[in-house]
Amino acid sequence: MRMVDLIEKKRDGKALSTKEINYIITNYTNGEIPDYQISALLMAIFYQDMTDQEITDLTLAIAHSGDVIDLSPLDGVKVDKHSTGGVGDTTTLILAPLVASVGVTVAKMSGRGLGYTGGTLDKLEAIPGFQIEISDEEFIRMVNESKVAVIGQSGNLAPADKKLYALRDVTATVNSIPLIASSIMSKKIAAGADAIVLDVTIGDGAFMKNIEDARRLAKTMTSIGKLANRQTVAVISDMSEPLGKAIGNSLEVVEAIDTLKGNGPEDLLEMCYVLGSQMVVLANQAATIEAARDLLKEALESGKALNKFKEMIQNQGGDVSVVDHPDKLLTAKYVMELPAKENGIVSKLAANELGIAAMMLGAGRKTKEESIDHAVGLKLNKKIGDAVKKGESLLTIYSNKKEIASIQELIYQSIRISDLAEEPTLIHDIIIE
Ligand code: URA
Ligand code: CA
Repeated sequence: MRMVDLIEKKRDGKALSTKEINYIITNYTNGEIPDYQISALLMAIFYQDMTDQEITDLTLAIAHSGDVIDLSPLDGVKVDKHSTGGVGDTTTLILAPLVASVGVTVAKMSGRGLGYTGGTLDKLEAIPGFQIEISDEEFIRMVNESKVAVIGQSGNLAPADKKLYALRDVTATVNSIPLIASSIMSKKIAAGADAIVLDVTIGDGAFMKNIEDARRLAKTMTSIGKLANRQTVAVISDMSEPLGKAIGNSLEVVEAIDTLKGNGPEDLLEMCYVLGSQMVVLANQAATIEAARDLLKEALESGKALNKFKEMIQNQGGDVSVVDHPDKLLTAKYVMELPAKENGIVSKLAANELGIAAMMLGAGRKTKEESIDHAVGLKLNKKIGDAVKKGESLLTIYSNKKEIASIQELIYQSIRISDLAEEPTLIHDIIIE
């Protein structure tokens, strides 16, 4: 097989075979095919698209380019959850203990944040002592005993995706539905999932800017799931404003604890119930979505889910006392209010720009190598649709730097106050293949 012929085939809009796709991914991973040929192929895929069969073949080839985690020693259906990108998305911290408390097996591998989107691992590390590096044996033992553990993903998980993603980033081929779908699904399959719940976000800051594109991405991923024998459900949700009220690592841990205590923001709680009930049904712990939701509601209101979170923190070496005393986590040196400049109704809270502001405070990293400051971030006091008076606080800034005028300016630009505003719809659609 010659790579140049395969590039030509895709350039002319023909479908690549399973064998051809396996050849490309194997030889790109081991360095036999150079970046410049893969760059040309990526651009051809960008313009010519791929069939569901090609995308599934690509997904499986990427999944098998490195370690494939074997979760078969664990009882039950292993359900994983993934978001295509959000700001202030605290759901995993809440969902992991919540669904585990009703019997779902949660053997979760999470990632770190990059750019303006946060990562679950960084948030968990805001809890003093919390260990995200655990041996395979310990991980399996923990999940069998407690139903839940959240750890960092193995270094050799889907290495082809790491190379492809870096190349897409510099060749303007990130925003391609077959490439995004195969990138996400390959990592879920390599991480050992039997079933997958996807949160496909729409908004200025998300990959998908409108409902049509989001539906296509969601349908593509559920089709891959079906062809690869992993039951997959995709929830299409809104990310035009941040989810919940906290953006930043310690702040989001506090928000997760508040939510598990029954005092969380409405949109975040709703998102957890919607995603969680799909996970519960896929794991065969309830027959219907309604029954699953009732189970989750009972677990949250009775404190069972909160106790599961404590157990998870304890198992992973973290300081459990933060659950009863979350204020311990709020250690930023400066706490400043951002006053509204006029009366009106909040009509815009741009998630991506607020994510960038939080990153500039130190809550996120611009490059993989940077370190982050767990204590800093933003806490929204108003959401879209809320009335505000001149001088009233729009949000609270937690900073370890005193001089943040340029960040405050950026935040003001990301917020609009108008005469009227429409509250965004949180859940746009649910796609079940
Ligand atoms: N997230 C991923 O993991 N890959 C993509 O291509 C896009 C979002
Ligand atoms: Ca949040």
